[in-house]
Amino acid sequence: MSWFYRNLIRPALFTQDSEAIHDRTMRMLGWTSRHEILCDALASLFGAPRNCGVELFGLKFPNPVGLAAGMDKHASALPIWEALGFGFVELGGVTWQPQPGNPAPRMFRAVSDEALINRMGFNNPGAEAIAAKLGEGRALGRWPKHPVGINLGKSKVTPLEKAAEDYASSFRVLWPHADFFVVNVSSPNTPNLRQLQDKSALDEILAALQQINQQPTKPVLVKVAPDLSFEALDEILDLVDSRQIAGIVATNTTITRPETNDSRLQHIYAEPGGLSGRPLRARSTEIIHHLRRQTKGTLPIIGVGGIFTADDAWEKITAGASLVQLYTGLVYEGPSLAKEIVNGLRRRLNETGLRELKQAVGIGKA
Ligand SMILES: Cc1cc2nc3c(=O)[nH]c(=O)nc-3n(C[C@H](O)[C@H](O)[C@H](O)COP(=O)(O)O)c2cc1C
Repeated sequence: MSWFYRNLIRPALFTQDSEAIHDRTMRMLGWTSRHEILCDALASLFGAPRNCGVELFGLKFPNPVGLAAGMDKHASALPIWEALGFGFVELGGVTWQPQPGNPAPRMFRAVSDEALINRMGFNNPGAEAIAAKLGEGRALGRWPKHPVGINLGKSKVTPLEKAAEDYASSFRVLWPHADFFVVNVSSPNTPNLRQLQDKSALDEILAALQQINQQPTKPVLVKVAPDLSFEALDEILDLVDSRQIAGIVATNTTITRPETNDSRLQHIYAEPGGLSGRPLRARSTEIIHHLRRQTKGTLPIIGVGGIFTADDAWEKITAGASLVQLYTGLVYEGPSLAKEIVNGLRRRLNETGLRELKQAVGIGKA
């Protein structure tokens, strides 16, 4: 299937504008997700085997491969991801205020590097609309068996000093609708957002969320940028105990660009925004190694950035990630990717003589 997608479907899709095809695909998946029989048909083609489960944060993940934030920003196709083999999803980013995001064009493909650049800027209908949609989905029984996370961003109109309130408002209305939350302070596409990775600003946001997060508490993770220094990462780790950070999602997109002599790539890389895909892989793995080292394996990490194969996922897991996520890989490799990665991870475990995935977490050398 992967060959079929790469050689026949992808070339046709890539003749179209990047965001336009994303929107069309999401509309089609949204429609499909409302028909159980179609979901079952997709699951028979792309569903992943249930032989690689993970338990983390008190949640049961049928497999460790998740859909990264940004793909299903509007929570429009929630039941479909399970049928496409994913073991969990992170919906959003969601902001308190509905907002259109940045002007288009705002998503670009760097095909020969298998990368994307985006400056979407949290286009989303707002936390209340997403909460209503998720409430409806649950009432209709259209809810996946895997854990569902929500990625929280800051509304563009909210000044940085009011960020904690803004995140807390979203968290309050979305709290009943997800199993875990990710505080996104690392998107490069909302002006100054990444300043919220600063220890005192992040402390204020997490304090506001944890005040709401009571009985039972739900896991709150922090998503970091790959462009942070190790010292800045360590400052975030200082908050783990005092603010009950359940884990780190490493990493978001990067504002750096690979060196290239290819003038077409240079042209695309001149676009402002965050870069994802293959060129991000090594740096995000490096960050995972560092986080693992600093926390001596006590803090769960979700590894994301440039995962296209089971080997890439294995690299993240052996660096210290308990779960992985992907976005750009799905665009380049197609709908069988999650299943292929789960199968590949199971094979790796068997070859290494390990029974469970958690035994592989952090066994690699930096
Ligand atoms: C178009 C696009 C939109 C994204 N939107 C979000 C977002 O809203 N929140 C977030 O935390 N990350 C967002 N991301 C980042 C991804 O979740 C992920 O961290 C990053 O793309 C690296 O993974 P990948 O190389 O597998 O794509 C977005 C990425 C892309 C390509």
